[in-house]
Parts: sequence; C-alpha cells; structure tokens
Amino acid sequence: MESVASPQLVAVLTAVLLFVVIRLRWSGSTAAVAALLTSGVVYFVALRWNEIPAPVPEVEVQLPVRERSLVIRRPRQRLGDGYVSSSRCAECHPKNHASWHASYHRSMTQLASSKTALAPFDGVEVRVGDQHVELEVEGEQLWATMDDLDVPPAARPVRIKRPIVLSTGSHHMQIYWYATGQSRILGQLPIVYLTEDQRWIPADATLLAPPAAEPVSNTGKWNESCVYCHSTHGRTAPTETGGVDTQAAEFGISCEACHGPGEAHIDFHRGQSVDDASDPIVNPATLSNRLSSQVCGACHGFTAALTFEEYQHDLLDGYRYRPGEDIAKTRLIEGLNEETRAHVGRSGGNQEIYFRERFWDDGMVRLLGREYNAMIASACYTEKQGGISCFSCHNMHQEEDDTRRVDQWADDQLKPAAVSDSACTQCHQATTYQATSHTHHLAESSGSRCYNCHMPHTAYGLLKSVRSHHIDRPGVPAELASGRPNACNLCHLDQTLQWTSDYLTRWYGAPAVELSKDQQTVSAAVLWMLTGDAGQRALAAVSMGRDAPREASGDDWMAPFLARLLEDPYVAVRYCAGRSLRKIDQFSDVEYDHVAPAQQRAAVAERVLQAWTETPRTETATRAATLVDPAGKLRQGVFDRLGAQRDDTIVNLAE
Ligand code: HEC
Ligand code: HEC
Ligand code: HEC
Ligand code: HEC
Ligand code: HEC
Ligand code: HEC
Ligand code: HEC
Ligand code: HEC
Repeated sequence: MESVASPQLVAVLTAVLLFVVIRLRWSGSTAAVAALLTSGVVYFVALRWNEIPAPVPEVEVQLPVRERSLVIRRPRQRLGDGYVSSSRCAECHPKNHASWHASYHRSMTQLASSKTALAPFDGVEVRVGDQHVELEVEGEQLWATMDDLDVPPAARPVRIKRPIVLSTGSHHMQIYWYATGQSRILGQLPIVYLTEDQRWIPADATLLAPPAAEPVSNTGKWNESCVYCHSTHGRTAPTETGGVDTQAAEFGISCEACHGPGEAHIDFHRGQSVDDASDPIVNPATLSNRLSSQVCGACHGFTAALTFEEYQHDLLDGYRYRPGEDIAKTRLIEGLNEETRAHVGRSGGNQEIYFRERFWDDGMVRLLGREYNAMIASACYTEKQGGISCFSCHNMHQEEDDTRRVDQWADDQLKPAAVSDSACTQCHQATTYQATSHTHHLAESSGSRCYNCHMPHTAYGLLKSVRSHHIDRPGVPAELASGRPNACNLCHLDQTLQWTSDYLTRWYGAPAVELSKDQQTVSAAVLWMLTGDAGQRALAAVSMGRDAPREASGDDWMAPFLARLLEDPYVAVRYCAGRSLRKIDQFSDVEYDHVAPAQQRAAVAERVLQAWTETPRTETATRAATLVDPAGKLRQGVFDRLGAQRDDTIVNLAE
C-alpha cells in the first residue's frame, strides 16, 4: 500500500502539537516527556497504518575516530613472557630482518590504515552478491558502512558504520576487521579483496562451502581463532567486565614465532645473562627434523590441546609450546586415527564431518596450510632413515647466493635447489629416478618432474589447489578408495582412469584394477566435473587452468565442462571455473561474474557453449573420452546422464 504520510513526520507533528497543548497546564519537562511518549505511540500506529516495513535505521553509532581511543577497541600488542619483538633483533641481524620483512609472514596481520590496505577505500562503493558496502578514508583511518550481520536475518538490513582496525593476509587476499565497540571484539568486513583480480567478493565466496541461506557473521572469530596462527604469541582472555582481552606479542608472524622468545638471547649477547650456560635462542635448522618441522607445524598443522586444562591454558595464555620443544607433549597432532577420533568425540564434534572437512577418506590431508600433518605421514619422514623436514625444501631467510628476485623467493619460500627435482634427489638416487626408465616421459617433460607425480595438486584452499605435502606413490586404487584425483589424470585431464591404470601396470607393474564402464570410457576429469563432489569439481576446475595439464591434454574440449561449472551451486567452484575458462584463448575476455545473479551466470554459460559448438574442431585421439563426437559436437546424452549423477554430499572444508 502507498504510504499516506511518513510516520516520522506524523510523530514529530504530534509531539510538537502535544507539547504546546500540555505546556499550557504543566511544567515544560512534564510536557516534553508526555509529548515524546505519546508521539512514540503515534509513530508506531502510523507505521502499521502505512503498512510499510520498519525503516532502516540511519547509520548507527560511530565509534570515536581518533586512533588513541580505537586502541582499546581492538586486539593489542603487548610484550612480556620473554618476547621482545622483531624491532629488537634488527640491530644485530639486519639481513635476517630484511628477508623476513619481505615475507608474507610479516604482513599476515597488520594494523589497517590507508598505508597498509591493498584495496582502494577512498569513496568506494561495493555491491557484490548480497553485500552493499561503502568505504571511506579519513586521514589514514579506514571506515566502512555495511549491513550488520549480527542482527537476526529477519531484522536485516541494519546499516552500521565502523572503523577498520586490522587486516589479515597480503598475498592472495586481504580480509579486513572492524571494531565492534564491544571490548576488543572484532567483526569481519563482509567483503574480501582478491589481490590478483583486484576486486572485492563477498566474504563467504572465498570458502569451499555449500551456499548459505543468509550471509553469516564472523564476529569474534579473529579473537577466538585467527590470533593463534596469524600473530606471534597470541591469546584471548575474558575480562572482569565481561569482554575479552586479545593480545599478541606482535601482529604478524615474527622472529620469535620461529626462534622462541628473544629476551634471554639478547641478554646473553649483551653479557647480562645470569645463566650463561648456553644461548637459549632456537635455530630450527639445527634441530632434529622432527622438532624443526614442529616449529612450522604449530601453525601449518592440525593440532589440538591434549586436555581441557591445556585447552584453557592455551586459550588464555597462548600455546604452552615453544620452538625447540616437543609439541606432542602439549598438543595432539591430528590425523585420521583413533586419538583424534576420541578427541573430536570428547569435544562434542561429529567425527565423520570433522574428518571430511580436513582429510580425504584414506587420511591424506586435503586442505592447504596443513602441510605438517601431510608431510609427517610420508614414508620420507616415517621410514627408518627418514629425515625429511620442511627445511629439506624451504628456507625462511633468502640465501645470499640466491639469484631470484626477493618476491619470487617470498612466494613459497623455496630453497633454490628445491624448486625442482633436486628437492628429492638430495636423498633419492638421481640416476635411478630421474631416468626415463623411472618416469617414462621425455627427460624435459613436465611429466618427468618428481613433484608432479609424487606431490600432485590435491590440496585445496584460498581458491586454488596446492601440492599435497604427503609424498606418495601415484596409483588408481587410492583414488577409488578416497575420491582423491590421481596425479596422472590431474595432468592428463583428457584420459580415462583405465588408460592410467593400464600404463601403471605396463610401466610399474601395478596390479590391474576393476573399473566401471564409465571409468573405462570417459575421462577421469570429466567424471570429477560431472559426477564428482564439490571438492573434486574444484580441483578439476583449477587443473584446467594450470599450464602443465593444458599442455598435456589440450584445451579445445574443456569449455562445455567449465561452462557447466559456471552454474555450480558452490560459489568457489564457479570462481575456479571462470578463472580457468579465461585461460582458453577463445574465451580469454569472457565477462563472467561468479557472484552475479543465477540468470546472468546461466546466460554466460549458454553463450560459451554456443560459441564452442559453432567452432570447428580437428580430430584428436581422446575425443570420445572427452564426450566429443566424430563431428566435433558434444555427446549431449552422456553429458546429461552423468551430470544428473552429481555427488551433492556436502563439502565444507575447514579453511
Ligand atoms: C645484541 C645483539 C643481538 C641481538 C639484539 C639479537 N641477537 Fe641473535 N645473535 C647474536 C649473536 C652475536 C649471535 C651469534 C653469532 C651469529 O650467529 O650471528 C646470534 C645468533 C642468533 C641466532 C642463531 C643461533 C644458532 O644457534 O645458530 C638466531 C636464530 C638469533 N640470533 C635470533 C635472534 C632473534 C630472533 C633476535 C631478536 C629477538 C636476536 N637474535 C637478537 C646477537 C644478537
Ligand atoms: C591452525 C592455524 C591457523 C588458524 C587458526 C587460521 N589460519 Fe589462516 N592461515 C594459516 C596458514 C598456515 C596459512 C598459509 C596457507 C598457505 O599459504 O598455504 C594461512 C593463510 C590464510 C590466509 C591467506 C593469506 C594471504 O596472504 O593470502 C587467509 C586470508 C587466512 N589464513 C584467514 C584466516 C582467518 C580469517 C582465520 C580465523 C578465522 C584463520 N585464517 C585462522 C593458518 C591458520
Ligand atoms: C617462519 C619462521 C621464521 C621467522 C619468522 C624468522 N626466522 Fe630466522 N630462521 C628461521 C629458520 C628456519 C632458520 C634457518 C635458516 C633458514 O631457513 O633460512 C633461521 C635462521 C636465522 C638465523 C641464523 C642465521 C641464518 O640466517 O641462518 C638468524 C640470526 C635469524 N634466523 C634471525 C631472525 C630474525 C631476526 C627474524 C625476524 C626479523 C627471523 N629470524 C624470523 C625461521 C624463521
Ligand atoms: C605463528 C604461525 C606460523 C608459524 C610458526 C609458521 N608459519 Fe608459515 N605461515 C603462517 C601463515 C598464517 C601464513 C600465511 C601468510 C600469507 O600468505 O599471507 C604462512 C605462510 C607461509 C608460506 C607461504 C608464503 C606464501 O604466501 O607463499 C610458507 C612457505 C610458510 N609459511 C612456511 C613456513 C615454515 C617452513 C615454517 C616453519 C619454520 C613456518 N611457515 C612457520 C603461519 C605460520
Ligand atoms: C631427507 C631425505 C628425503 C627427501 C628429501 C625425500 N625423500 Fe622420499 N624417502 C626418503 C626415505 C628415507 C624413504 C623411505 C625408504 C625408501 O623408500 O627409500 C622415502 C620414500 C619415498 C617414497 C616411497 C613412498 C611410499 O609410500 O612407499 C617415494 C615415492 C618417495 N620417497 C619420493 C620422494 C620424492 C618425490 C621426493 C621429493 C619431492 C622425496 N621423496 C624427498 C627420504 C627422502
Ligand atoms: C619435498 C619438498 C617440500 C617439503 C619437505 C615441504 N615443502 Fe612446502 N612446498 C614445496 C613446494 C614445491 C611448494 C610449492 C607448491 C606449489 O607450487 O603448489 C610448497 C609450498 C608450500 C606452501 C605454500 C602453499 C601455497 O599457498 O601455495 C607452504 C605454506 C608450505 N609449502 C609449507 C611447508 C611446511 C610447513 C613444510 C613442513 C611441514 C613443508 N612445506 C615441507 C615443497 C616442500
Ligand atoms: C605434470 C603433467 C604430467 C603428469 C603428472 C603425467 N604426465 Fe604423462 N605426459 C605429460 C606430457 C607433457 C606428455 C607429452 C610429452 C612426453 O611424452 O613427455 C606426456 C605423455 C604421456 C604418455 C605418452 C603420450 C600419450 O598421450 O600417449 C603417456 C602414456 C603418459 N604420459 C602417461 C602418464 C602416466 C601413466 C602418468 C602417471 C604415472 C603421467 N603420464 C603423469 C605430462 C604429464
Ligand atoms: C610419471 C610419474 C613419475 C615421475 C615423474 C616420478 N615418479 Fe617416482 N614413482 C612413480 C610411480 C608410479 C611409482 C610407484 C611404483 C610402484 O608402486 O611400484 C614411483 C615410485 C617411486 C619411489 C618409491 C621406490 C620405488 O622405487 O618404487 C621413489 C623413491 C620415487 N618414485 C622417487 C622419484 C623421484 C626422486 C622422482 C624424480 C626424480 C620421481 N620418482 C619421478 C611415478 C613417477
């Protein structure tokens, strides 16, 4: 119904009128109170009368602008417990300081300002998905006006304006956190900035998770979770006034996160140490492979407090674990095993869901950022002469004779020698394994690189796939048992599982396996994309955009499958498909927005399919397996039959 007059206007007029009338008999304040109360009632009556929904309140409480007052509304940096901060180390270790400064560890968590933000904030209005956010800069202070996700969905939208105080990440994406005004609790800006694309997307579109009915609030997440891995010696304790006090020795991952607290070391070298027995600083490189990898595993791993008491201690005072110690004494190193099952049970979690969010069905880690649990399950670590550690391949300070640019090193922080096969041939005979008698590919082929067969891209996170850090033997049985795509087909996207199985038998004597009709005749990647679950679909979509698979498989058959994934229910799958589609020359400038309304996405998918259908194709050996008929057209019947078998099991990775 059309509104007759604005309820506000009716209420204000009533108030003024009443005040004047009542003031004739009673005091001014009584008149004011009476007038206000009555006008309030009139306001609500007018609201109902007009049958319009409750109005969106104007931008709510603005927090004080000045930096000084914001400090009490965000997590703080506080030294103590022997931590002295990176600035103290710079004086004696300028080179180590410089290489650390260039690493993404340093900029993991930053105080947000117009200087540190990678995204433009000045007068920017963002409308993506369900989100509408207005960004501003005042001095160096960043501000955002957005929908408050902490009010129940039925009461939305409520617009709030908040100061941005912290940021997370600087490599693939940057997440921003605002002061909620409640003690030091942070809220997450509902949009995230992708650095490579230079665009904003809704926060929930960064995760491999089923579509949520409503955007969810991440208020408090930084305080209760991120702080433990994204800062140095982080912790969150309740305060007497019912708030939380979140502290870190230093934001970002600094020297003392890997070397341990530095106060005693500095005292030692300044000759002030009471205990001059030995220098207490830890150099991970001189520890055993087990203890050195744990330094990284504390953050790059799934671990949990061993007992409830430990849990409380870790929460309030930060991890008890310090570099150089045995983490197994204070934390449970998780895996698909009985101890972890029991732990999940004790914490009231659903074991099946818990494992599915983290591991493939055979126990291999499926998530990026948890390299430690993956690596320690490898024979290179567990077998008697074992010996592998993170430092077999990575270094945390660039070597002096490393000729790469510092940003090239900082991306993955690999030792120069570990960029290729020598990572493996430092322990395994090059003459045996680099030989084509082992790899069966041309020596210079991507198919001859150890990493590609033994550490394939089966881990997923941050909208990309990364190498599994569980070094294993490629094979078809593992895929059948776990659903994890095998190394050969992750590159040979146009070949069937049967083809791979046959070659593994011929080349390596692998036992023959029994496969279904589809697995014998349809390419493995086509099956992942049409019949797979969201995890398989995402990995297949990412692989279609990577260089080696595109070289090994050709790309002239991929468009119909990527086009289908442009309409996938999982927003992350849609993103990966769109990115890979643009790698195909014919579609390099396709305008596709993975968070646009469904109709728009369908229209793009339709156009892509149309364009592909109209393009003449030449004969290739694998046409049938990629559902292309002799005339170069899509075998629509098989495509639809397989598409109807899509595995809609919920995949919600614990990213
Ligand atoms: C007053 C000077 C001074 C300061 C400040 C200082 N160090 Fe050192 N550090 C030394 C000296 C001297 C050595 C031994 C020689 C060398 O390796 O450079 C050393 C060695 C080290 C080593 C190697 C130890 C080993 O066993 O290989 C590490 C790691 C280290 N320091 C880390 C730090 C960190 C982290 C900080 C800041 C918290 C820091 N240092 C602050 C003087 C200092
Ligand atoms: C158990 C430790 C751990 C916790 C807890 C954790 N992270 Fe991370 N996070 C990591 C590691 C390790 C990486 C690096 C992953 C990689 O690059 O492979 C990472 C990377 C990231 C990145 C990518 C940064 C960039 O520069 O691209 C983002 C964003 C991120 N985390 C967000 C979060 C948020 C938000 C939280 C809290 C809700 C959180 N993480 C909690 C360990 C953790
Ligand atoms: C992410 C973990 C990590 C961080 C953060 C880190 N280091 Fe290191 N540091 C290492 C490792 C591992 C080594 C062993 C050599 C290597 O890997 O480059 C090392 C070696 C050293 C050494 C011994 C000399 C050398 O280069 O081998 C010094 C000194 C040192 N670091 C100081 C620092 C200082 C100072 C900072 C902060 C400004 C810092 N480190 C930050 C992990 C770290
Ligand atoms: C206090 C937690 C913590 C510790 C300890 C830690 N890391 Fe990290 N690491 C992270 C987080 C969080 C990121 C994500 C940073 C980013 O990409 O912005 C990261 C990123 C990385 C990266 C990827 C950089 C990139 O974006 O390409 C590598 C490689 C890495 N860490 C290796 C190590 C190794 C090896 C160790 C052990 C010496 C280690 N880290 C110790 C938390 C930690
Ligand atoms: C620090 C030494 C070391 C490094 C580095 C190393 N390995 Fe190993 N690897 C071993 C040892 C020891 C074993 C167990 C005994 C054996 O099979 O030789 C092993 C076992 C293996 C196996 C058998 C796996 C299984 O499940 O039976 C494969 C495959 C393998 N390594 C491949 C690689 C590849 C590929 C790399 C490089 C990405 C690599 N290794 C790096 C030491 C290492
Ligand atoms: C055998 C060599 C090897 C070992 C051992 C190894 N890594 Fe890696 N790591 C790599 C390679 C190669 C990459 C690049 C992966 C890629 O390009 O996808 C990488 C990438 C990474 C990344 C970045 C992933 C991303 O976001 O792209 C992190 C973080 C990391 N490793 C951590 C670790 C940690 C922690 C350990 C020890 C628990 C470890 N690695 C042990 C070879 C190794
Ligand atoms: C990183 C990508 C990559 C991986 C992983 C890979 N290959 Fe290859 N493969 C290639 C490339 C590129 C060629 C063509 C050049 C050559 O022969 O080396 C090829 C060629 C072949 C050929 C001969 C040409 C053909 O298509 O008939 C066979 C057979 C083959 N690969 C089988 C395998 C098997 C089996 C595995 C797993 C054990 C595997 N490949 C792993 C990239 C890969
Ligand atoms: C084309 C894929 C492919 C490439 C490339 C490859 N391997 Fe393998 N490798 C295999 C397969 C398949 C097996 C498993 C054989 C089996 O199960 O008997 C294997 C087994 C191994 C083993 C286990 C021990 C053995 O002899 O069975 C080691 C160690 C190994 N490879 C090391 C390497 C190293 C080091 C490189 C790089 C120099 C490399 N591989 C390159 C496919 C590959």
